[in-house]
Amino acid sequence: MSRSDRFLRALRGEPVDTTPVWIMRQAGRYLPEYRATRAKAGDFLTLCKTPELACEVTLQPIDRLGVDAAILFSDILIPLEPMGMKLGFPNEGPRLEPVRDEAGVRALRVPNAEETMPFVMDAVRLIRRALDGKVPLIGFAGAPFTMLTYAVEGQTGKQFAETKKLLYTAPAVAHQLLQKLTDTVADYLAAQIRAGAQVVQLFDSWVGQLAPEDFRAFAAPYVKKLVDTLKPLGAPIIYFANDGGSLLADAARLGADALGVDWRTPLDEARARTGDGVTLQGNLDPCLLFGPVAEIERRADDVLARAGGKRHVFNLGHGILPGTPPEHAVALVEHVHRHRLS
Ligand code: CP3
Repeated sequence: MSRSDRFLRALRGEPVDTTPVWIMRQAGRYLPEYRATRAKAGDFLTLCKTPELACEVTLQPIDRLGVDAAILFSDILIPLEPMGMKLGFPNEGPRLEPVRDEAGVRALRVPNAEETMPFVMDAVRLIRRALDGKVPLIGFAGAPFTMLTYAVEGQTGKQFAETKKLLYTAPAVAHQLLQKLTDTVADYLAAQIRAGAQVVQLFDSWVGQLAPEDFRAFAAPYVKKLVDTLKPLGAPIIYFANDGGSLLADAARLGADALGVDWRTPLDEARARTGDGVTLQGNLDPCLLFGPVAEIERRADDVLARAGGKRHVFNLGHGILPGTPPEHAVALVEHVHRHRLS
């Protein structure tokens, strides 16, 4: 079996020779070659908006790490700009002008992705051509609830008090915002798939802030709408509900082909909650990659054992961290691939 189809086969629940592996944020600041391209671009948004440079950094980890998938280099916040929100990355982390009331939500647009974010679709086409079938390309977007937290908080949330104030005191306005975000993400991911993305991942980075009742009200229905809209396009869909161990049984009913699992929930427990109808992706704690390699390998073996050789894509439980030694990421990928399944 070639490296090119392991990942897609595992997502579809078909047998594989060895567990496919990729790493969330595999193109990023832990790689010196990323920092060099980033310096060439000047700032982060310019890097995202220049297809040749986005293509370059997408490809950087593919041969260096030996991973079984590429992920488009971009950011989940990119679509908020054409919706009408000013976006910047001044220092550490994003800043937006927050939207917290009905008038603010009413003023937001649902942009046409091809017209307003052509640089993303150009990057997808360039990457597909450069990969030449070596590994599949993952497109991505933020899930509606996580996008809402950025729109409402104006930055990465801490207590998510503004978000929850909106949910609990003005639920109708929250639903209007979630609907606009869902329509925006649906068009954006459909455009990525048409341009050549073979898989799409929805990042719900902050959904673990929600109690199950609120997940069912404010997150799950919109993820379900996205899955229902995108399914006919044929690209497998991965839903990553970060810190969502208590939400897994509900998440398994949304129709996604795969669920990302963070490191807090062992994969055998995750499997007991989801049933066998979905692929699980994860879930080594990213901090383990700081080393030593023997411990990385021991813990990777534990992840593989708990996955039990069925419907599994190996990944970290969240994004790889700046400062991670790249050779430890290489060691992880090699170790996962040495474990043969057939
Ligand atoms: O996985 C990949 O290699 C693709 C690239 C990718 C980036 N952001 C590049 C990036 C992906 C998939 C994302 C998704 C993203 N962006 C998420 C969801 C994933 C997650 O971590 O939960 C979120 C919440 C964001 C929003 C965001 N972007 C934040 C909070 C920050 C600042 C914090 C940080 O890690 O720097 C960013 C910036 C960002 N996005 C960087 C990169 C490589 C660092 C920018 C730099 O070069 O300085």
